[in-house]
Amino acid sequence: METAIENIVNTVYQQRYCITDGFLSDTEVKTLKNKIISLYQSNSFKKAGIGNDKQLITNSEIRSDYIFWLEKDDEQLNQIFFSFIDELITQINRRFFLGLKDYEFHYAYYPSGTFYRKHRDSFKSDDARKITVLLYLNNNWKNGDGGELLLYTDNNDVLKIEPIGGRLLVFESEMEHEVLMSHADRYSITGWLKNKSRLI
Ligand code: OGA
Ligand code: NI
Repeated sequence: METAIENIVNTVYQQRYCITDGFLSDTEVKTLKNKIISLYQSNSFKKAGIGNDKQLITNSEIRSDYIFWLEKDDEQLNQIFFSFIDELITQINRRFFLGLKDYEFHYAYYPSGTFYRKHRDSFKSDDARKITVLLYLNNNWKNGDGGELLLYTDNNDVLKIEPIGGRLLVFESEMEHEVLMSHADRYSITGWLKNKSRLI
């Protein structure tokens, strides 16, 4: 039997992306979402920028969400999430030879009326980001709330993916994608598996 992680790795290998529903339990989704809400209320989030860290600019015409970078020593996240990410990196490296060495993740909060226009997650000036991982935390997402992710696949097909709580999405960072305008508060964990370490 294929494990959940093997299934993700094989599916990304075959079609460049993988959607896994029910990755987190409802309780875990609510716990993380409440964490985001309290961090946002204590002004810990900042307006998200575009480009890499060295040339970070904010441009609300392109994206208008808020982010909070995650620390790797968060006990709760280690149990729920980072232990999975470590295993995912190990297995992707075995299968793809991507040489993944590091990861970076942030919470993202899209208040009603915000969006992120079509883009790629790896830049010409910095192509360290190889795999994008999204974990949606909208436990009561409903039709009409907007905030869907459009993912542009090879043959110019566009997938419309709803940000449903507990849903995990993994795709190659080179793929173009965009977040349609959200009409409700939209919460997620977003991050990247990278082939360069921040420590070097
Ligand atoms: C990003 C991004 C997609 C989403 O942060 O780069 O594309 O669904 N997010 O939140
Ligand atoms: Ni993106």
